[in-house]
Amino acid sequence: MIEEAPRPAGGGGGDPPGPVAAALSRDWSEAFGLHEAGVNASFVKMLRTIGFDKTYVRGEGCYLWDEQGNKYLDLLTGWGVFALGRNHPKIKAALRDVLDRDLPNLVRMSCSPLSGAVAQRLTGIAGRGLSRVFFTNSGTEAVEAAIKFARCATSRDGVVHCDNAFHGLTMGSLSINGAAFFKERFGQMLAGARAVPFNDLGALERALSSRDIAAFVVEPVQGKTCEVVADGYLEEAQRLCRRYGTLLVCDEIQCGLGRTGAWFCYQHWPNVEPDIVCVAKALSGGFVPVGAVITRDRIMGAVFNNMERCVVHSSTFGQNDMAMAAALASIDVIEGENLCARAADMGEYAMRRLREVGASCPFVSCVRGKGLMFGIDFARPRESLKLKLAWDTLHRLNFGVFGQMVIIPLLHKHRILTQVAGYHTEVIKFLPPLTISREDIDWFIAAMADVLEDTTRVPGAAWDTVAGLAKRAAAATI
Ligand SMILES: Cc1ncc(COP(=O)(O)O)c(C=O)c1O
Repeated sequence: MIEEAPRPAGGGGGDPPGPVAAALSRDWSEAFGLHEAGVNASFVKMLRTIGFDKTYVRGEGCYLWDEQGNKYLDLLTGWGVFALGRNHPKIKAALRDVLDRDLPNLVRMSCSPLSGAVAQRLTGIAGRGLSRVFFTNSGTEAVEAAIKFARCATSRDGVVHCDNAFHGLTMGSLSINGAAFFKERFGQMLAGARAVPFNDLGALERALSSRDIAAFVVEPVQGKTCEVVADGYLEEAQRLCRRYGTLLVCDEIQCGLGRTGAWFCYQHWPNVEPDIVCVAKALSGGFVPVGAVITRDRIMGAVFNNMERCVVHSSTFGQNDMAMAAALASIDVIEGENLCARAADMGEYAMRRLREVGASCPFVSCVRGKGLMFGIDFARPRESLKLKLAWDTLHRLNFGVFGQMVIIPLLHKHRILTQVAGYHTEVIKFLPPLTISREDIDWFIAAMADVLEDTTRVPGAAWDTVAGLAKRAAAATI
């Protein structure tokens, strides 16, 4: 996999070097020191500890290259942003087109044809009575808007979410996060946030029956667990929401726009008609932060109900031309390259093969997900005493470190970039670009077979590495 280490082509012809060229002309490995000094020292420490402090110098499609010219398969895709792969030529062309036109951009007291066109595309794709769009600059902002819109449209405060949910990390979305860890030490959360177990309709009905719940916010595929809503769950949740006057909000920020094998995951079930759908990540084409809330006329009408309130919820950068161009081009690429169907096929193939190789590893408890959003979960083995003992010893030192035994060799030995799905979890999630080929899935499966086999060698190098990590974490040196 050694290839020439190509540096990104830079700047324009004979012009004097600009600030980008100047920053990129430094030794790239200095970036870690700059981040340690000026950004987030703990993050740098974590990368160095697990040996993920690599310098990547180029990205294209499903791949990254380091300075030595080594090619990596990227199954992390910037937490789902690079659904179309990196540096897609059609997204680049759309962005260049905007720059070359000297557009007026963000006039504010006018309407841009670009944002109008994105709204038309998104509502056309979403269907099911979803006819209005509010644009944001990130996923969490879309969730914040959804919470505000639901509160405004129902005159209620409560928001129900699921255990293990992840909807972003600003105060509203953090309040409906399903893990205590993220909320610790950040003070009071939003009043009225309530958790129910995922896929539990009885618990949902008990929560909604208080009739003070504005919204039930749910990820059809949970980002932290890769759990998928059960067949019939969303239909029934919708029926309960309607009965008790609550709005159904599908957070499709991670699973939306083709990843699960349909434009939106709720579309796998013909009768599901969410009141609000949140999207972001893939809509950016991997270039320009953007998000959107797709909703019904009556909900948007309740928020922006007269001229005085026409910007009562807004943001300075919302609907900017670069974001809108990236969104338009991304939708075109997903449609033109038939990526929904491709995600369904490749996802089915990848999960089937992963189950096959996982079957011979006693630590694998299950492989789950939908389309190209899937994960592998690990648990204490049922049989071998030796493996049980190894598992218990490791977990006494630190819960959730087992996944490192998989992701570290995946990167170092097999050049595949992944990450554990969340804090205090054993799940490793895979979010390949929707453009991934069967050959690259085979690369991943062969690597997983090798790495999983190594976990069964006790004592062995893989266990020594994670035990060392766990000890240092327990001693709070990480
Ligand atoms: C389902 C879901 N909702 C919301 C968010 C928050 O998006 P952002 O990080 O763009 O704020 C994420 C991010 O991972 C997500 O996966």
